[in-house]
Amino acid sequence: ELKDNTIIIVFGASGDLAKKKTFPALFGLYKNGFLPRDVHIVGYARTKMDEAEFHKRVTSYIKNPNDDAEVASDIDDFKKFTSYLSGSYEDPASFKELNKHLEEIESHYQSKECNRLFYLALPPSVFVPVAKNIKDECYVSKGGINRIIVEKPFGKDLKSCRELIGSLKQSWSEDETFRIDHYLGKEMVKNILVLRFANVWIGAAWDKNSISNVQISFKEPFGTEGRGGYFDEFGIIRDILQNHLLQVLSVLTMERPVSFAAEDIRDEKVKVLRAIPAIERNDTLLGQYVAANGKPGYLQDSTVPPNSVCPTFAATTVWINNPRWEGVPFILKAGKALNESKVEIRIQFKDVVQGIFKDIARNELVIRIQPSEAIYLKMNTKLPGLYTRAMPTEMDLTYKRRFTDTKIPEAYESLILDALKGDHSNFVRDDELDVAWKIFTPILHWIDGQDGPRPRPINYPYGSRGPKELDTFIGKYGYRRLADS
Ligand code: BG6
Repeated sequence: ELKDNTIIIVFGASGDLAKKKTFPALFGLYKNGFLPRDVHIVGYARTKMDEAEFHKRVTSYIKNPNDDAEVASDIDDFKKFTSYLSGSYEDPASFKELNKHLEEIESHYQSKECNRLFYLALPPSVFVPVAKNIKDECYVSKGGINRIIVEKPFGKDLKSCRELIGSLKQSWSEDETFRIDHYLGKEMVKNILVLRFANVWIGAAWDKNSISNVQISFKEPFGTEGRGGYFDEFGIIRDILQNHLLQVLSVLTMERPVSFAAEDIRDEKVKVLRAIPAIERNDTLLGQYVAANGKPGYLQDSTVPPNSVCPTFAATTVWINNPRWEGVPFILKAGKALNESKVEIRIQFKDVVQGIFKDIARNELVIRIQPSEAIYLKMNTKLPGLYTRAMPTEMDLTYKRRFTDTKIPEAYESLILDALKGDHSNFVRDDELDVAWKIFTPILHWIDGQDGPRPRPINYPYGSRGPKELDTFIGKYGYRRLADS
């Protein structure tokens, strides 16, 4: 349920995340009538600018490629309830000023109850002081709700994550904290529970008896492009696998929750993650892109330190030691500067008993998360005609064709709405993070050189499928490339 009299405060309002995701999502919610009545949005950042300049920026953050008059007028309306304040992230005096600004807005509200949602679109170095300053100076105590949204990175390994969570907890309770992993807001990821638990035939085939291997893949066709400073410190595993892909894995493999209540869902996710032992070096393939096709290599990005051995591609296989999944390899793989943009889950079933057939292909269920959401099942069908011959075909649910009038919401729209409503289902609980780091910390320490020399990633050309060793790597876990239907 949405609370009226809510102010959303976006910290880091002039930064990249606010520009690309937060403001467009807030606008999307507004345009579709999903923001609370009387909502006000306050941007806060260090950059000094007046309101006119801020409004100009907000306009530029929101896409209106065809200069649609209706969108332009909606943007004008949207700007009317946004304001901006610049200040420090460390100095409590700035937060006193912010509080005055918020109280001024709230003095116009009819009811005394005021609610504040603080969104930290900030670099990790200032998470802790900002969270503390908000708590000390801007927390409404009179019957209102305070919530804080934080974004990854949540530390760099188990120890630093625990320290960070511990520091944030000194100011904010778990119930008030919404840790975003935006993959949990994606339509196809939200679809997984329905797909699994509302379809008897999928439920029946969802285990080690039917499934041979699973791949969860993330491919991006561009490199670090100026974000190398951040990226080099974290690497592809912390950027994508340890959070986004592991979250997808947990939803894909958890047992059925007792209900759709947030804690029931998160309890089951934690339970399955606890059954995953730390990833082995032998189950890991690392790559780094080099210049090709006129595109620069990772080391040519001026924000990347010379001779960096940071992986921009990783494939790792995780195993789940529980009765449902024992022995099934789950390959998580992600890379930058690859040949295409695609995120998908590929579930390959075991061979069918050939029996009366010859050369019958395996079934494969693909859930394409993006782009162009789809679910399709590679299956065998009789070739129509007078012969009895089986051929591979596809049962295809492509969203664009099936849901023609439905706009698929952006992940951030869905998550900000959940946070406004106080629904934690698609946010990451503290114990989930803890166990996620336990799975990845040993290989990360190896990659970081904490246990000896740093492993050298294998070079792959910008725009390729990744290191050429990839096919052998996934083949080792039983994946068989199927002929295209
Ligand atoms: C972010 C990563 O979390 O996710 C980026 O830091 C990556 O490196 C992005 O590009 C991908 O998100 P999406 O929604 O475009 O798949």
